[in-house]
Amino acid sequence: MAQEEKNASDDYIINIEHLNKKFIVDKQPMEVLRDITLQIKKGEFITIVGHSGCGKSTLLKIMCGLVGYEDGIVERNGHAVEGPGPNCGMVFQDHRLLPWLKIKDNVGFGLRGIPKEEKAEKVRKHLEMVGLAGFENSYPAQLSGGMSQRAAIARGLVNNPTILLLDEPFGALDALTRIQMQKEILRIQKEEGTTMVMVTHDIDEAIYLGDRIVVMSARPGEIKEIIKVDKADSRNRGSAGFAAYKKKIYNYFFEDSDEEYEVEYVI
Ligand SMILES: Nc1ncnc2c1ncn2[C@@H]1O[C@H](COP(=O)(O)OP(=O)(O)O)[C@@H](O)[C@H]1O
Ligand SMILES: [Mg+2]
Repeated sequence: MAQEEKNASDDYIINIEHLNKKFIVDKQPMEVLRDITLQIKKGEFITIVGHSGCGKSTLLKIMCGLVGYEDGIVERNGHAVEGPGPNCGMVFQDHRLLPWLKIKDNVGFGLRGIPKEEKAEKVRKHLEMVGLAGFENSYPAQLSGGMSQRAAIARGLVNNPTILLLDEPFGALDALTRIQMQKEILRIQKEEGTTMVMVTHDIDEAIYLGDRIVVMSARPGEIKEIIKVDKADSRNRGSAGFAAYKKKIYNYFFEDSDEEYEVEYVI
């Protein structure tokens, strides 16, 4: 049957198979990613955790097309990734807003070739989506850290990408703002149906947001495990299920983690 002959990779919005990546450092090849295989379905929320320097940002940049790779398969929407495109947005830890442009112009910066009114409407809609209605004419220096990240998310979504890649987007925010932003990014993901891939060094955040959590080894980054998360557990940060995920992930990073991390069952 034709359906059965269909390539399995057609079902995935991102398909990575046996990806290897090296950088040349001091004229020597340095292995950064080793044999990465990861398939992501449309509408999934994937979180990636791993030690600093294990290649997480590099992996996102490869998915986005900002960085090339030696061998393996990297496909977005069934096509080999050859460079950045409007169907894939990216948000970084530092908001990267241009200080001399108003928020509305920062958010609309990448919108090219559409009528002025349509552009203004898209910018308005996305500022509203991230809770920044009324700040269109502010400059980045006038916004708090959380508001700047909201603007960066609006800029990442303004092209209506099917995929949004987020590289530690809340890493510089205080704990309370961070929790609020986590709830909002989930709401936006549900409303827009965007596939999201987020790198985070915050294990709680990885559990709370991820439908699946990719756990990586130290460099060269290999995938140690992909943990499927039961959302009934993970949306309740005080549940025993949440604590159990946390312990499982801690075990990957700290030997003898019973001493390092005691699970408290709070229900
Ligand atoms: N363009 C580059 N050229 C050379 N080395 C790089 C480059 N980008 C990253 N690296 C190195 O690759 C490794 C992985 O980096 P990165 O992907 O940023 O890690 P992570 O995001 O997991 O902290 C690090 O050792 C980093 O110094
Ligand atoms: Mg990084």
